[in-house]
Amino acid sequence: MNRLKRSIYVLSLLSIAFLSVQCKSEKKKEVEVVPEKINLVTISKEAYGTTSDSIAVDKYTLKNEKGMEIDIITYGGIITKWTAPDKNNNYQDIVLGYNTLAEYEKATPYFGALIGRYGNRIAKGKFSIDGVKYTLNANDGPNHLHGGVKGFDKVVWTAAETSTDSTASIILTYLSKDLEEGYPGNLKTIVTYTLTNDNELLVDYKATTDKKTIVNLTQHSYFNLSGDFSKPILDHEIAINADKFVPVDATLIPTGELKDVTNTPFDFRIAKTIGKEIGVKDEQLTRGLGYDHCWVLNNQNEGVRLTASAYEKESGRLLEIFSDEPGIQLYTGNFLDDTLQNKQGGTYAHRTGFCLETQHYPDSPNQKDFPSTVLSPGQTYNSKTTFKFSVK
Ligand code: GLA
Repeated sequence: MNRLKRSIYVLSLLSIAFLSVQCKSEKKKEVEVVPEKINLVTISKEAYGTTSDSIAVDKYTLKNEKGMEIDIITYGGIITKWTAPDKNNNYQDIVLGYNTLAEYEKATPYFGALIGRYGNRIAKGKFSIDGVKYTLNANDGPNHLHGGVKGFDKVVWTAAETSTDSTASIILTYLSKDLEEGYPGNLKTIVTYTLTNDNELLVDYKATTDKKTIVNLTQHSYFNLSGDFSKPILDHEIAINADKFVPVDATLIPTGELKDVTNTPFDFRIAKTIGKEIGVKDEQLTRGLGYDHCWVLNNQNEGVRLTASAYEKESGRLLEIFSDEPGIQLYTGNFLDDTLQNKQGGTYAHRTGFCLETQHYPDSPNQKDFPSTVLSPGQTYNSKTTFKFSVK
């Protein structure tokens, strides 16, 4: 081989070697392709409307792979839609509400909303902390109910989103100014709604203050597990893990007694239908026009534990509520009276939805023997509730 031929030969060998290395590394690249990230729960956002005072409201949708879908609007942190499976895996909306923002703004019995600063009633809206007297707006006869005239259910929250491989969350923040509705302290509240792929909605409430105040936050969804909002909820079987409940006076303010549920219509330790004893002659049922009472939950030092459940036989839907709160209010839609528009058409009739609101007992700021609802600067209020759906 002459010199030229030899050079050509060497060059071709080199290029073959180079190409084969290239090929190999390309092949390698193919193998290394990272699989697309699968989010089992997604979150999306769209404009929902504008309030009468021109504030834009968004709607967030949390959706899991199983099929559960939850719509939450930034107005009131309201859950406007929540689908859950029946025994045939048919997902249907199971929470009462409206189709428009205007309806929520006009007249709402707290459908699906976040409640604050104080869920439930405070007698005459009065209480004192360290000898300082405060007077809150009265919006329920003589009493203060669910945060007052413009509670957390009627304000627009700031929203952020976050997610992991198996959850998606919406984080709602609201700063309630000192003396808003009469409450002391600038209160910063953060509520995180997290949907898991196990058909659970986790609600985590946090709050901090710059002045001693009171806090008792809750969620006010009205459930009808049949998915048909024209049907009364009397056939739903409820269980509440409580040996005692909180009797109330004629204005639904606690008398101070914590009463044993044994041999009363308030005994839900073994599941029974709402309708079973709601009609019996009982002074407490008369005062509440049905069930509108707080139960003293058992195992209060256990942290988050099963507190109550609701089951609708026909659909097979089972709702279990876990919480670290000492109490739960069962309200059986006694004030629904066919005056509010049903989002499925028609109107909401008497007892077509029920609420199970985890919370501290009503009027705690005026009852020294009830667990305290006082929050001091430097402390963080934290309360957790999980709503878990399954079928049975
Ligand atoms: C709460 C109260 C009820 C009623 C409803 C809303 O559950 O305890 O008395 O005010 O909210 O109508």
